[in-house]
Amino acid sequence: MVKLIRIAPSILSADFASLGSDVKSAEEAGADILHIDVMDGHFVPNLTIGPMVVAALRHVTKLPLDVHLMIDNPDAYIPAFVKAGADIVTVHPEVCLHLHRTLQTIRGLGVKAGVALNPATPESVLQYVVSLVDLVLVMTVNPGFGGQTFIPEMLLKIKAIRQLLDAAKSCAWLSVDGGINTETVSLVVNAGADTLVAGSAIFGASVEVTEAITALRKAVNCN
Ligand code: DX5
Ligand code: ZN
Repeated sequence: MVKLIRIAPSILSADFASLGSDVKSAEEAGADILHIDVMDGHFVPNLTIGPMVVAALRHVTKLPLDVHLMIDNPDAYIPAFVKAGADIVTVHPEVCLHLHRTLQTIRGLGVKAGVALNPATPESVLQYVVSLVDLVLVMTVNPGFGGQTFIPEMLLKIKAIRQLLDAAKSCAWLSVDGGINTETVSLVVNAGADTLVAGSAIFGASVEVTEAITALRKAVNCN
């Protein structure tokens, strides 16, 4: 059976001076989701974008927008990102004092709720919130920067989360983020991932975006 794999280009590696056209290229190339990395210089040592950029992107693409919040106190900003056009809001339990409540809030605003786990965060954090989760994002690098090297120990965590989701009869997407390229895709898909976030392998590649996405899809089946 051919497994459905979603490709989610991360705009972190796009050309910010031509963000709109980079996003359109990704959509035309068959991307399934657009991954937007929001960083605050506190939770992670980097600064990126806020709701205004999400709102601007909402006008140039029909792709679902997955807003990955790498910020302290995400609760304070969730409504603004939903208003800006996010379809999925993904939060880190490491900065959610009340993760259950935060996920309820996200769903209550009418969008999908995601949970992102840092490499050192165990999957057990999902156990009592799984019914509120639409997407699990396994960080396969330490969050903050594009172009880092995949952490192989995360394969065990992906497998464990696959089991956890299956046992709970959850349809949540199992996404991976960090160091995803033609070498690592088959490893994560075999471990149970169904959604692949890739920044530098798509926007930072020496080839066109279409070619980069095609290469990732091929590598899932060939490696
Ligand atoms: C890192 C971000 C990623 C980043 C991945 O903290 O969450 O989405 O863009 O970049 P690559 O694919 O280059 O590792
Ligand atoms: Zn991300």
